Amino acid sequence: MKWQDGRRKDPKSCREKDNGRFEIIARDGQARLGKLHTLHGILETPCLLPVINPNIRTIEPREMWDRYGIQALITNSYVIWKHDNLKEKALAEGVHSLIDYPGVVMTDSGTFQSYVYGDVEVGVEEIVKFQKDIGVDIATMLDIFTRPDMTYSQVEKAVDETVDRGQISIETAGDVMLNGPIQGGLFPELRVKSSVGMSKLDFSIHPIGGIVPIMEQQKYRDLAKIMLACKSNLAPNRPVHMFGCGHPMLFPMLVAMGADLFDSAAYVLFARDGRLLTPWGTERISDIEEWPILMPAITNYSPAEVRAMDKQERTILLSKYNLEVTLQEMSRCRQAVRDGTIWRLAERRSHEHPALREAFLWIVTNPARSSMDPLILDEISASKETGNERGKWEDNWDWLVHSQYTPRNGGESWGGTDTHHRPHVEMARRRLFARWTSRKSGDVIVFHGASAPWRERVGDLVERIYSHDMEIFVQTPLGLVPWGLEDLNPWAHIEGPEWLWKRKPDYAWMQRELQRLGIYDRKIVSVDISDTEELHNRVFEQLGIEPMDRTPDLKKQGQIIDKLCVLYNVDLQDAIQLCENSTFVMSRTNRIRNLINSEGLHLFSPRLAEGGMSLTVEGARKLHSLRKLATPSNFNENDFSFYAGQGPAWVVVDSDAEPFVNEGRNVMHGFVLACDPWVRPGETVLIVNSEGKLLAIGRSQSTAGELACFNKGIAVKVREGCP
Ligand code: GUN
Repeated sequence: MKWQDGRRKDPKSCREKDNGRFEIIARDGQARLGKLHTLHGILETPCLLPVINPNIRTIEPREMWDRYGIQALITNSYVIWKHDNLKEKALAEGVHSLIDYPGVVMTDSGTFQSYVYGDVEVGVEEIVKFQKDIGVDIATMLDIFTRPDMTYSQVEKAVDETVDRGQISIETAGDVMLNGPIQGGLFPELRVKSSVGMSKLDFSIHPIGGIVPIMEQQKYRDLAKIMLACKSNLAPNRPVHMFGCGHPMLFPMLVAMGADLFDSAAYVLFARDGRLLTPWGTERISDIEEWPILMPAITNYSPAEVRAMDKQERTILLSKYNLEVTLQEMSRCRQAVRDGTIWRLAERRSHEHPALREAFLWIVTNPARSSMDPLILDEISASKETGNERGKWEDNWDWLVHSQYTPRNGGESWGGTDTHHRPHVEMARRRLFARWTSRKSGDVIVFHGASAPWRERVGDLVERIYSHDMEIFVQTPLGLVPWGLEDLNPWAHIEGPEWLWKRKPDYAWMQRELQRLGIYDRKIVSVDISDTEELHNRVFEQLGIEPMDRTPDLKKQGQIIDKLCVLYNVDLQDAIQLCENSTFVMSRTNRIRNLINSEGLHLFSPRLAEGGMSLTVEGARKLHSLRKLATPSNFNENDFSFYAGQGPAWVVVDSDAEPFVNEGRNVMHGFVLACDPWVRPGETVLIVNSEGKLLAIGRSQSTAGELACFNKGIAVKVREGCP
């Protein structure tokens, strides 16, 4: 029970040794649900820290805690320091008592005041020491604000000065968590410089600073650039905070790019001049007859009644309304991360505002995109930048794509051309292109004209073609997919209008797709399967071949071989050998349940839901024995396509963890010694000890970079120990 006598209970302190630690409990690409451990409770992220002005408390902090369950808020230490009455009380009783709030208190340092008023009188160490003395949970160093109108050299000076102030600020803060803000204005290079420089210092959290004027001017494309430049260069185990960002419209996009904390006074500033925050923009109370969203604060009033209130009462009511809407959108983002749909939410929200749409299109189309369909790219070329600017952002896009897991459960809900740009769709395609290899040298058959499940239409036909020297593909709205992967998501489960599958075959497009799959100069025979009447006769006539006897086992083997290559990164020849003379246990719907190899061992079990495949312990042992590379000895991260055919990634755990992992317990961060450069979240990994002995099969929750630096939370979810 979180409640007692109508009041929310005070938070429980984290364990002392965990204070300041951040762990990820769920993720969707770079978006993450985290827990930040503090002495005033475990803060669940992503979340919004409402700004409290200690002089004007429009909504009482206590009410924020009791009524709204807000776990953290931010106030300004400089304002407290400047006002003697506040300062004395804060020093005597602590900041939590000053504002009557039991949760996590973050304070800012006065940097924003120096941006607004020109200067502040407080010193670098002085303000950090003051924050420590008043007992804040998270303090902020005095950084130098970088405005968008500053020149490159002015911004560089501010970035360098902020980094220079970092070490002394950290030493002054001692064991209090400290924010190390990232500056850099509108210059991506300087954002990178700031991120790299600040990451080297022992900060707990990195706020992205200097973005308030950019958001005020609705330059969301610049905001997206800043976010990508910073986030991909920051230590992944430190939460990222968006300084001054509280418009709910921006949450999905920023959460999808890895933002963990937000703070804003927007809920009250907007309320003061009669503006309502909504996930699709801002509305004026003067313009509306009805509420855009019904929220608890206003259920008893009509907009007209609120307009008639005196200013103070109206401001309080609208502040509550704005806060409620903001909290709701944040909840929606968190749920979307859990559901694996945060990108889709950002995509949908991008349609709400032209500047947001521009930002979104820039993210998805700007970097040079090797696996994208050029036709689709051309459609939105207006949003692209030209020349060098495009290539410059390629690594940042890779960073976003390579953190995605695939295949996912459930259907891919069609959202027009945006669907092609979803990072996990791109990841699925890149993995296919990097790992799949053709085993035939003859003509290519492309089935088109119908949606999945294709096996129900042409499974029998495929069995009669399979022993011919022909490669078989299906044309899907997300590209060509080899027959062996016909049940693999996202290709196999797209929720969209029927016409998506009715597109006429385009040979130039098919050629390009085949080239990406490593197939050149082959005759393409496209077969319309929308009508199955007389299909067999038509097809054999079209192909100019005789129907062969059905070869169901050959087809089944082919499916497992393709899955081994694409899902487990197995070398093609190894995959072929593993499947030689196997037998299959079939489901009632005639799909492969288990593969039993020639020695009678059950190695693999295809998953029927999303087309994935599970490894048994025997299967893991086989894949482990095929390893050609040495046991990994570091955490270097690299493009997975360089390691095609090297098998599932290995994660090396230390001797303390070894017995637990071997029994099937999860691998916790802090116990990992090294991993392969191609470890990705959501992928099956083999867990080994430092001698390379197989301990367990698991599903990585992390990239190599994350395995290197996190010290709390689950690193690899273990599916089964391998005793
Ligand atoms: N509040 C809004 N922007 C900033 C910033 O850049 N630095 C600090 N310290 N606080 C802010």
